[in-house]
Amino acid sequence: MEREHWGTRIGLILALAGNAVGLGNFLRFPVQAAGNGGGAFMIPYFIALVLVGIPLMWTELAMGRFGGNRGHGTMPGIFQLLWRHPAAKYFGVIGLLLPITIFIYYIVVESWTLGFSFFSLIGRYNGATTQDAMGGFLHGFQGIARNEYFNGIYWGYAFFIMTAAINYVVLRRGIRGGIEKLANIGMPLLIIMAVVLVVRVLTLGTPDPSKPDQSVINGLGFIWNPDLGALRNPKVWLAAAGQIFFTLSVGFGAIQAYASYLKKDDDVALSGIATASTNEFCEVICGGTIAIPIACAFFGVAATQAIAQGGAFNLAFQSMPIVFQHLPLGNIFGFMWFFLLFIAGVTSSVALTLPAVTFFMDELGWTRERAVNVITMFTFAASNLVIFFLAQGFMDELDFWAGTFGVVLLALIEIVVFFWVFGKDNAWEEITRGAEIRVPAVYRFIMKYVTPLFLIAILATWAKSDMIKVLKMEAVLPADRPFVWGARVLMLVTLAGFAILVAVASRRGGLSKERNAL
Ligand code: TRP
Repeated sequence: MEREHWGTRIGLILALAGNAVGLGNFLRFPVQAAGNGGGAFMIPYFIALVLVGIPLMWTELAMGRFGGNRGHGTMPGIFQLLWRHPAAKYFGVIGLLLPITIFIYYIVVESWTLGFSFFSLIGRYNGATTQDAMGGFLHGFQGIARNEYFNGIYWGYAFFIMTAAINYVVLRRGIRGGIEKLANIGMPLLIIMAVVLVVRVLTLGTPDPSKPDQSVINGLGFIWNPDLGALRNPKVWLAAAGQIFFTLSVGFGAIQAYASYLKKDDDVALSGIATASTNEFCEVICGGTIAIPIACAFFGVAATQAIAQGGAFNLAFQSMPIVFQHLPLGNIFGFMWFFLLFIAGVTSSVALTLPAVTFFMDELGWTRERAVNVITMFTFAASNLVIFFLAQGFMDELDFWAGTFGVVLLALIEIVVFFWVFGKDNAWEEITRGAEIRVPAVYRFIMKYVTPLFLIAILATWAKSDMIKVLKMEAVLPADRPFVWGARVLMLVTLAGFAILVAVASRRGGLSKERNAL
């Protein structure tokens, strides 16, 4: 079977940008920045971008193109090619586990954004103008409470099924006709809506003249005024590095799957920079300007601080709808906000599924149809656990293991395999072949020494400060969390399932063979 390829250069870049730009940019980033030193957060953030984010972006793109041209688009096969050791492929299993785990809860949040975009349009939450009332609306929708807004999870579940169906259709249509097409339409639309919302926020001024403190300027000050003292706190550095991983989608094994559909001499260096720049525009400029400043303009800085501490979801789904009810044309702006999130979500969630799809196709020789059907059935079932055990913290658990802990580990393994095992010169050749920009030579040094040391430092900081506490997650989750084991079991079963499939594929002589080499 001939491997599919991306159709156009711009299509590839939009697809990669769609992969990276997601809920993380508009929900996770502003809350992280506001909670970790405001403007000062940007210092460790940019350091992590330059020393870890961009190196990993190039590494993953180059690895993916290398593997794809040899018939292996996912981590088990790629590791096996780069590091000819029988254990190599099993390290790669982490690169299948992480994206699928993120997907299982990410699609649930994505379905909320679809639901709320619809509710904004029809004015369904109008009248819920306090945090409590809107919280009731959200919890009713999520099926956590029954109240005057919802008498069960039916609406929430219907939007979940719709979201799963949309993801399914895009994946079934493949790379060019599915993911690339979605990005070609979705990404320009997303950027337009984001810019409209940014302009709307910046022109708000002081919405209520009798409360001069509640202004957009004070909101921007709240998120951006640097608190340099925060830089002495290692948690701030960890949060900044964690945000870089999450927002760029690096460290998951997902960029490789995209890059595996490149041709042998297609550029990766410029594509990597273009992807990172688009992502940073959407994150720092748009994500940093919309939700927090507008909340400050309507609720004041102190109340917004409390909202932000309540988490990204409260800010997005509870406070923003109240804001829209105060704005002229609020229905339209509300729709734009939630639909923007939805587009950002779908173009990322298809990317989260692609590694597993690519694995089944490459290593087990399945058709796309069969691979997508099986993965959709599995993740659909697993997402039901997230939906029905939402109140018990199932989602936070998956997010912590895959999104915070797993990535740093996989990133370290990747960079060591590429620059130390495969070799610095080979790795550099892979990154620069076909490059349409000159990759600065210092990156040879950075990627071999600085990036891995940075990653080891993160792991060491965890180990030193409170590894046990972190592993028991006392810092992350509420004390009583009865179903916490459910999420762990699910992840272990998935991990074991992939490991067995890797063993099967390898026994059939698949994983280390170089197929359809160009
Ligand atoms: N980058 C995405 C966001 O900002 C989330 C994400 C994390 C992701 N890891 C990924 C998306 C892997 C696709 C693939 O929301």
